[in-house]
Amino acid sequence: MKIGIASDHAGFAMKQELIAYLQGKGHEVLDCGTYSEESTDYAIWGEKLANAVACGEAERGIAVCGTGIGIGISCNKVNGIRAAIVSDTVSTELTRRHNDANIVAFGARIIGIVVAEEIIDVFLNTPFEGGRHQRRIDQIADIEKRNRG
Ligand code: RB5
Repeated sequence: MKIGIASDHAGFAMKQELIAYLQGKGHEVLDCGTYSEESTDYAIWGEKLANAVACGEAERGIAVCGTGIGIGISCNKVNGIRAAIVSDTVSTELTRRHNDANIVAFGARIIGIVVAEEIIDVFLNTPFEGGRHQRRIDQIADIEKRNRG
């Protein structure tokens, strides 16, 4: 699978570890930045990742900042993106099954690398259930249409 990944400075070290983890599992990785630990703004990198996922350049995305919240909110401003901000594998499984999340976001200051890797495994391997959940996804897309700036 082609996976996009992005972080700000707070998530940079974890992003680098996760790139190696993903490549070790045979995935192709699109590194959307940031590219150093120099202080930067999560919105820049969240938008870049979200655009890559929205246009199909990457099939799924992984976003990391200090908490996962700033970069996750930023990703969700791009049409077609459903970024789930998580800290555990149960929420990750349910957001794949019910919300068809196409980006997962978490905080390098909140969880450790082992939990991050477990979250990624669940995120990449859990299918969307469809059915009644598809209707709700369609309603989210309708919100986007009604509120396009
Ligand atoms: C950066 O200091 C920090 O605010 C950022 O990584 C993130 O936690 C924001 O949501």
